[in-house]
Amino acid sequence: MNDQIKRLLELRRLQNKRETNSTLVVSVCSGKGGTGKSFVSLNLAYKLSRLNKKVLVIDFDFNLSNLHLLLNETVKEPLSNFFHQKVTFDELIFRYNENMHLIFGDSGSNDFPKITNDLIEYFFIHLEKASRNYDFIFIDSSAGADSNTMYQISRSDLNLIVASPEPTAIMDAYVLIKMITEHGIEKRFMNMPQDIVIINKAEDKEEGEQAFQNLSTAVRHFLKKEIVLLGVIGHDRTAYKSITNQELLLEHYPNSMAALQIDDLAHRFLNIAQMANNSQLLSQKPSL
Ligand SMILES: Nc1ncnc2c1ncn2[C@@H]1O[C@H](COP(=O)(O)OP(=O)(O)OP(=O)(O)O)[C@@H](O)[C@H]1O
Ligand SMILES: [Mg+2]
Repeated sequence: MNDQIKRLLELRRLQNKRETNSTLVVSVCSGKGGTGKSFVSLNLAYKLSRLNKKVLVIDFDFNLSNLHLLLNETVKEPLSNFFHQKVTFDELIFRYNENMHLIFGDSGSNDFPKITNDLIEYFFIHLEKASRNYDFIFIDSSAGADSNTMYQISRSDLNLIVASPEPTAIMDAYVLIKMITEHGIEKRFMNMPQDIVIINKAEDKEEGEQAFQNLSTAVRHFLKKEIVLLGVIGHDRTAYKSITNQELLLEHYPNSMAALQIDDLAHRFLNIAQMANNSQLLSQKPSL
């Protein structure tokens, strides 16, 4: 880490304060890989952008990133350029449409820096400033719960956990929630649910709801915690087709089953965001 980054982090520690605003920072995460985090992040963000919300989606799968592939876009400024201080934070931002912006990661870059919690903090310090321009920030995480992901989760307001209905994915989602709980991560919205679940690739609604019930029962019993089902997205060949064609489902196939389900999710998500805005503790526990 170079001296400039070190100095900024030290200054921040001395100041011991973070900026507060009403932007909701959401970590989209999962225990198991391939559950649909990137697919959900992009399509949910796109829907919200069409509902006139300003959204920033960040690819935090670092050197294995793929949001640009899902959109068929070329990455001009990947995250590593910011970490190497070749570009400013603003220069990282790619504008997909007026309301939906993205920050892309790297794909197998040879000089990708070793990601540490300090480097993530450095990123978040800059994100705090940029966050004023957005209603929502979605961070598309790498699968699992390594220390970088836990740090990123600690800097977010909500965890959006994407699981598929198989027992292995549900078990891994449980482990992720357990690790978040054991880390004792305090969120700034204390009087509302902080772990929100999407069951993706379900055969049908019943299968998805049953999988959620299994997860919720285990979390309540062992972790004494409540989680919320944001919704179920079915396994949809059109969703698969949209990914293969590198087109956004909500943009190109808005009447497909999965698109209509994500539509519903977006409205429920807005209700949760409204709860966050109404939260009395908004200013008591400053974060982003
Ligand atoms: N609702 C769906 N219906 C059908 N296929 C889906 C659906 N959602 C995701 N997929 C399939 O699952 C694959 C993985 O999705 P995605 O890349 O979004 O997962 P991920 O959780 O981001 O993976 P990783 O952990 O590798 O980052 C997609 O390439 C697509 O083929
Ligand atoms: Mg992904």
